[in-house]
Amino acid sequence: MNILRIALDGPSGAGKSSLAKEIARRLNIVYLDTGALYRTVGLYAKQKGVNPSDAQAMAAILPTLSLDVRMEEDGQHVYLNGGDVGDSIRTPEMSKYASAVSALPVVRAFLLDTQRNFAAHHSVIMDGRDIGTVILPDADVKIFLTASAKARARRRHAELTVKGIETTLEQVLADMEQRDRNDATRDAAPCVAAEDAVLLDNSNLSVKGTVTVALAIIQAKVEEKSE
Ligand code: DC
Repeated sequence: MNILRIALDGPSGAGKSSLAKEIARRLNIVYLDTGALYRTVGLYAKQKGVNPSDAQAMAAILPTLSLDVRMEEDGQHVYLNGGDVGDSIRTPEMSKYASAVSALPVVRAFLLDTQRNFAAHHSVIMDGRDIGTVILPDADVKIFLTASAKARARRRHAELTVKGIETTLEQVLADMEQRDRNDATRDAAPCVAAEDAVLLDNSNLSVKGTVTVALAIIQAKVEEKSE
């Protein structure tokens, strides 16, 4: 197999990015965090003072948005009209903006090529919501990573606390449940497992345990393909 394409989907807080980073490191492949692209579009909506749920207004500002993803020493950086967005896309407010813009077909279409082009040229693990269903329907391996809402909220709360972003566990859980509903019930590319995805529930697994199971899934799929 020349190029290996791994699609990793699942709801927010399931631990996709920790898992994808570790898999990319172990397999020496590139990790593309696609949520960062939706977050960057959300940030642009905010900068422009546009309602992120307004499809027409969003369609009007997208032509002036240039988005560039670069893999640097410390990982992925997203540039919005030439400026590195850094951690400004990681706030709870930007999570809401990202969720709103990601429901718009015009935004999903805008980000499609950036995502597909990546997989055309590199071995990748891409994490998102619709990688296995829409972006890379013929990915070599598809994993749908999930965990209970409580387990995911606990993890997300700990992450935000480490980053110095103040919030309560109750608030994180409520936001997460709202976002799950938006992401799973929207018409455009809802967050659902592809038919041929392997389901991995890590509610009771450590990060290390999740990596071990995911690597076994990947190895089994690769062997199956090369038979
Ligand atoms: O993974 P994340 O929390 O950074 O994603 C931010 C938002 O973008 C989230 O509400 C879901 C959406 N998203 C999406 O619709 N499709 C993707 N491939 C990645 C993220």
